[in-house]
Amino acid sequence: MDSKTKIAVFVSGGGTNLQALIDAEKAGKITSGEIVLVVSDKEDAYALERAKNNGIKTAVITKKKGEQEDFENRLLAVLAENGIQMIILAGFMCILSAAFTSKWPKRIINIHPSLIPSFCGKGCYGLHVHEKALAYGVKVTGATVHFVNEIPDGGEIIFQKAVEIEDGDTPEILQRRVMEQAEWILLPRAAEKVAKEIAEKGDNYGHL
Ligand code: GAR
Repeated sequence: MDSKTKIAVFVSGGGTNLQALIDAEKAGKITSGEIVLVVSDKEDAYALERAKNNGIKTAVITKKKGEQEDFENRLLAVLAENGIQMIILAGFMCILSAAFTSKWPKRIINIHPSLIPSFCGKGCYGLHVHEKALAYGVKVTGATVHFVNEIPDGGEIIFQKAVEIEDGDTPEILQRRVMEQAEWILLPRAAEKVAKEIAEKGDNYGHL
């Protein structure tokens, strides 16, 4: 393998999954890829601080109401400028169109806080996912890492991990348990797996 896959992580909020990726890279658990850019659609996302604290370049690309194509063109431009080969959606709360995802086949992965196909799709994100799981009364939930295609949460599944729901759980308590027991473990593992596959293929810019 000649070089590491250049990774951009897209974020919108607190960035605990970004932190798990950074920690995994530092600990030598991600060796096939390198996080070179963190992109946020929110100026005040704490994830940006995490990136800066770790010397990772950041970009803020906000999405105006009703905008899609121009937003995605700005994303594509910053990705090209930085030679990005793989994208990780780590709590990124914007849906990407088919025009965007089709340029990055099997090069975008996403972490979702449920066992897909339960509690997923448009409008099902963040804490809402856990509210819905508790309201339904399921006894097991979990997290899924999947490739991103034009269907929200519909791409091929890479890894899943189940997490038990306990009596007295609130959405916040459940969210934390799913992060600790599943998300922060699965996402770095998936990042290494996909980064390795891309690095080994050698056709680094197949998406352009
Ligand atoms: C995480 O639980 C992630 O799985 C979820 O948002 C949270 C972001 O937390 N993502 C989605 O719901 C995407 N549909 P973080 O900013 O601390 O990583």
